[in-house]
Amino acid sequence: MALLPILCFPDPRLHTVATPVAVVDVRIKTLIADLLQTMYDAKGIGLAATQVDVHERLIVIDVSEERDQPLVLINPQLVWASPERHLNEEGCLSVPGIYDGVERFDEVKVSALDADGVSRIIEADGLLAVCVQHEMDHLMGKVFVEYLSPLKRNRIKKKMLKALREEQR
Ligand code: NI
Repeated sequence: MALLPILCFPDPRLHTVATPVAVVDVRIKTLIADLLQTMYDAKGIGLAATQVDVHERLIVIDVSEERDQPLVLINPQLVWASPERHLNEEGCLSVPGIYDGVERFDEVKVSALDADGVSRIIEADGLLAVCVQHEMDHLMGKVFVEYLSPLKRNRIKKKMLKALREEQR
């Protein structure tokens, strides 16, 4: 297993649209293990392959308190969403230190392959529903700050670029 570097907004590679995983082989299983290790190490609750510069439809999630319930979604597709939507505070490992409100469906049903390549339907509500929608956005090249006002987004972009410059000094 390996820790993978996480791309940070406004890196243009975060806007790449991922392609479907063709086959759940050893390469994909290694990627799953690396994504999980990277997510746990960064203390995140979700990570999309896009965020480590791999542009295939694969996400890992763990919203459990004990950090022992990994969920792997390969080629996820939204099959149902509740009519109810709410604003939730979100953060992202690709936008460290930034938290803001995004409106999401309260409940979703998603079809996906699991880590063994078996087709499943995941019914999600609460934090899991928010996380699934956030991570699926990454696969479409969308970062949560894109839901915010242009003013806020530009302020975040400047802050991230400044932090990056300071890091490189
Ligand atoms: Ni994110």
